[in-house]
Amino acid sequence: MTQRIRKAVFPVAGLGTRFLPATKTVPKEMLPIIDKPLIQYAVDEAVEAGCDTLIFVTNRYKHAVADYFDKAYELEQKLERAGKLEQLELVRNVLPSHVRAVFVTQAEALGLGHAVLCAKPIIGNEPFAVLLPDDLIWNRGPGALSQMADAAEASGASQIAVQDVPREQTGSYGIVATEAFNGREGRISAIVEKPEPDVAPSNLAVVGRYILSPRIFDLLERTTPGAGGEIQLTDGIASLLADDPVHAYRFRGTRFDCGTHIGLIEATIRYALDHEKLSDAAQQLMQNALKELGVTELE
Ligand code: UTP
Repeated sequence: MTQRIRKAVFPVAGLGTRFLPATKTVPKEMLPIIDKPLIQYAVDEAVEAGCDTLIFVTNRYKHAVADYFDKAYELEQKLERAGKLEQLELVRNVLPSHVRAVFVTQAEALGLGHAVLCAKPIIGNEPFAVLLPDDLIWNRGPGALSQMADAAEASGASQIAVQDVPREQTGSYGIVATEAFNGREGRISAIVEKPEPDVAPSNLAVVGRYILSPRIFDLLERTTPGAGGEIQLTDGIASLLADDPVHAYRFRGTRFDCGTHIGLIEATIRYALDHEKLSDAAQQLMQNALKELGVTELE
């Protein structure tokens, strides 16, 4: 795999049960951090990494995702007439003009592996990226996917983003065992979905960025439902290990698990504190809120 990735898959057909009742009508990927939905952060990261074809795997309830990336003629005209050019740029730039969006339907939520398989006809026979938008990764320098795309191009291996997690949390992640790391990369020797801490092969957890060889599709087609009755991407990757080098990649950046309540709150606070216009006000109101609640442990 020495080819640079051009295509990125966004599996957004999950049910988002952890954010009910909001996700009855608002897809989880459309929940905002400040003023951008989670999906936009992931799209920006993929475009920055060089992707020009974005494949959204959706379901019939997720019109909001397709609508968001569609052209909003009336809104654009109104903003233009009102001279609101800054906002007009924001609306126009959700997708740069050289990037195309393709929507594929996953008729039933049969698992992440199945969702990725739905993108097979569009990907064809080239390496591609998978981004899970609820893992939001913030970095001052190049984004996580861009770092991984460079590594994939240089090493020719598939790349899976990983981060160290406390051992008691292994049951919430795919966990990898690796050979010794060389810089940020280590060849994966085993991968297990959500192992209990006492049987986990390490505390290196998979987070939602992958660069995969197209061989994964044949393997996913042969994968039977695993944990939770779903076709797991982890099981497909476990089969890929036998044929192909797959590297764990320790990215530079901070990851927020926006698939959980506390992760979404943490991301909102961190982005607000880093925001050009909101930072001072956000700091002040956080201090006030803590004072009101009688929290006195702040230095
Ligand atoms: P999650 O495990 O976070 O599931 O899926 P979920 O349904 O989105 O959320 P909860 O757990 O019910 O709150 C991981 C990613 O895989 C996608 C999801 O959209 C999410 O981006 N996915 C999952 C699919 O696209 N299809 C599926 O069948 C399952």
